Amino acid sequence: MLMTEIIEKKKLNLPLSKEEINFFIKGYVNNEIPDYQVSALLMAICFNSMTKEETFALTEAMLHSGDIIDLSKIKGVKIDKHSTGGVGDKTSLALLPLVASCGVKVAKMSGRGLGHTGGTLDKLESIKGMRINLTSEEFIKQVNDINIAIIGQSQNLVPADKKLYALRDVTATVDSLPLIASSIMSKKLAANADTILLDVKFGNGAFMKTLEDGKKLASLMVEIGKAFNKNTKAVITDMNEPLGNNIGNALEVIEAVNTLRGHGPKDFETLCVRLGGIILTQANISKTVTEGEKLIKEHIASGEGLAKLKEMVKAQGGDPTYIDNPDKFPKAKIVKPLISKHDGYIKAIDALKIGEGAMLLGAGRAKKEDSIDYASGITLTKKVGDVVKKGDVLAYIYTNFEKFAEAEQLIHDAYAFSDEVVEPSKLIYEVIE
Ligand code: URA
Repeated sequence: MLMTEIIEKKKLNLPLSKEEINFFIKGYVNNEIPDYQVSALLMAICFNSMTKEETFALTEAMLHSGDIIDLSKIKGVKIDKHSTGGVGDKTSLALLPLVASCGVKVAKMSGRGLGHTGGTLDKLESIKGMRINLTSEEFIKQVNDINIAIIGQSQNLVPADKKLYALRDVTATVDSLPLIASSIMSKKLAANADTILLDVKFGNGAFMKTLEDGKKLASLMVEIGKAFNKNTKAVITDMNEPLGNNIGNALEVIEAVNTLRGHGPKDFETLCVRLGGIILTQANISKTVTEGEKLIKEHIASGEGLAKLKEMVKAQGGDPTYIDNPDKFPKAKIVKPLISKHDGYIKAIDALKIGEGAMLLGAGRAKKEDSIDYASGITLTKKVGDVVKKGDVLAYIYTNFEKFAEAEQLIHDAYAFSDEVVEPSKLIYEVIE
């Protein structure tokens, strides 16, 4: 088989066979096919897309390029949840302890943040001592003992995606539906939980900019999951406005803790309750989503979700007193209020600008190698639909950088105002199953 023939075929918009897809993935992972040929193929895929059959074959070839995690020693239904990435998205930190406290097994592999989107691992590491690199024996034992562990991805999980993603990143070939779907789903399938819940974000702070594209991606990923015999569902949620009030690593853990105490922002709590309700049905703990939501609310009120987070932190070497006393989290030297120059209603808070602003304050990485500052970030004191007066505080900016004018400008530019009444943003649009 020749790589040039495979590129030629895709260039002519002809479907690739399973054998051809396996050939290119194997050859690329084994360094037998050079970057320039794979780049050409990726660009042809971006232009001509792939059929469902090709996308399933690509997912399968990527899935088998490395380790498939063996969770068979964990008793009970193992669930996985994945967000396609957003700003202020600390959902895993509150949701997963909640469902674990209801009896679900959560063997979760998470990622780091890149660009304007944050990552669960970085957030967890703002807790002193927290280990995210457990051995597979420790990981399995912890899930069997306390129902939950959140760790980093094993080194050899879908090596094809590591290489392909790095190449896509520098060849402007990230935004292709089959490439995104196969990239995400190959990792979910390799992590090997029994059920998968996808939180597919759309909006200016997300990969998918429109509701329509969000739905397309969600439907394709659900079909892939089903083709591999996994109970897979997707929820389409808004990412035009940041989720919750806090953006930044330690700030987001604090907000997750507050939510588990029953004092979280409304939008964030609503999302945790809905996703939790769905996960409990996937795990056969609740018969209906409504019943599941009720149980999640009870576990917020009783503090069982909070106790589970604390138990997980302690089991992974973290200091559990951070959960009792969020004052212990690192604090930024500079705290600056962002003042409204308008009277009226908040019409929009652009999630992308807020995410990029937070990154410039030190909360995120522009490049994989960059370090992050756990203390920096933004707290929104008003959300879309809120009424404001000139002089009101819209947000607080936290940073350890002396110079942050560019970040401040971006955050300032994120706001749009209206003289007319504005409804709060709708958060949950659809469930695809
Ligand atoms: N997240 C992934 O893991 N892969 C993509 O291609 C896009 C988002």
